[in-house]
Amino acid sequence: MMKLTKRVLGMSPSLPRRLFDMAKEIGGDVIDLTLGDPDVPPPANVRAAACAAIDACHTRYSQNAGLQQAREAVAAYQRTQYGRDVTADDVILTVGAMGSIFQQLFSLVEPGDEVIIPTPCWVNYVEVTKLCGAVPVTVPALEKNGFSVSPEQIRAAITPRTRVIVVNSPNNPTGRVLREEAVRGIAAIAAERDLFVISDEVYRSLVYDGIPYLSIFDLPEMKGRCSVIDAVSKQFSMTGYRLGFTIGPRPLVEMMTRLQENVNACAPLPSQYAAIAAYGPETDTSYLLREYDARRRIVVDGIRSVPGLSLGGVDAAFYAFVNISATGMDSQKFAYELLKSQRVAVVPGLAYGEDFDDFIRIAFTVSGDRLREAIGRLGEFVRRAT
Ligand SMILES: Cc1ncc(COP(=O)(O)O)c(C=O)c1O
Repeated sequence: MMKLTKRVLGMSPSLPRRLFDMAKEIGGDVIDLTLGDPDVPPPANVRAAACAAIDACHTRYSQNAGLQQAREAVAAYQRTQYGRDVTADDVILTVGAMGSIFQQLFSLVEPGDEVIIPTPCWVNYVEVTKLCGAVPVTVPALEKNGFSVSPEQIRAAITPRTRVIVVNSPNNPTGRVLREEAVRGIAAIAAERDLFVISDEVYRSLVYDGIPYLSIFDLPEMKGRCSVIDAVSKQFSMTGYRLGFTIGPRPLVEMMTRLQENVNACAPLPSQYAAIAAYGPETDTSYLLREYDARRRIVVDGIRSVPGLSLGGVDAAFYAFVNISATGMDSQKFAYELLKSQRVAVVPGLAYGEDFDDFIRIAFTVSGDRLREAIGRLGEFVRRAT
């Protein structure tokens, strides 16, 4: 008889996927605002590079860490855009940012170790930590604190088993940027307690209104104890290309490369060629930021006009984390009933942490007109329900 492991049976069902699947099943004029996967195409030069790679039969394996030229393109972008002292040897290309998270946590934590994860957070960190046999220790970044975790909260969560702190700024699901004071405070504690920090920066290029961004990776005390996770997925709207990367201390990059040999062999080769184009000087992504910013304004203004819903703000990315507490519904009831009665799919806040059952996440995955329609339906739903 087949017997599945406790590891895989212990995975929590994913609420975002459940809502996404239900939206697909219902079909018709459902407006699906679940997954962080907007309908905007990648830049034309990047698509052309991917097609050219396929035509040229660049469709075999590459080195486990990725093509030298693609790793160099990533490193060069990091040097010129962010002033980081990075070479191709500090970079491994992975199957999406998800590949980086898995391979990193698998390389950094032993069973029983603890990983500190501020919530609300993208579900993957918690599940992968559990898959590694380690223990996720969540720390709530509450709305009343601007969804920002305080260094004191992190300090209080540290035990002798703590190995890693995950920092995700800009954050999924809140769309908030972690402010400088918090970033510096977390870095100081990590250095003092000899902890490793994973900085997930996949939304870094999508910050609005010139809000200042400080990466924890760039603080001097983080040298040798911090990695960056990033990807082409959100920055260039290339989620399906499955191309992410890690920049980190060489022993980590080397171990992840060895692990990759046994897990994926390499990131998809046509996508590596596309990444060379994406991170090259020809690529212009200003249209993406303009489009998401316009959608953001529609969502923020629209939500604020609905009595019973509240939304503080969106600094970055394409998410709004909306407070629904005044409706008296928990987040699952809200999301399931909204989908059934108004055919709008959103994600219950509970997916992102147990303290966030008063929220829903809206992803700006469709055009401004469709978003206006979705908010109109949301307003109708809340009016009827309250
Ligand atoms: C914070 C964060 N990191 C990583 C990812 C995954 O990125 P990728 O599609 O490159 O695996 C997501 C996807 O939504 C995310 O929100």
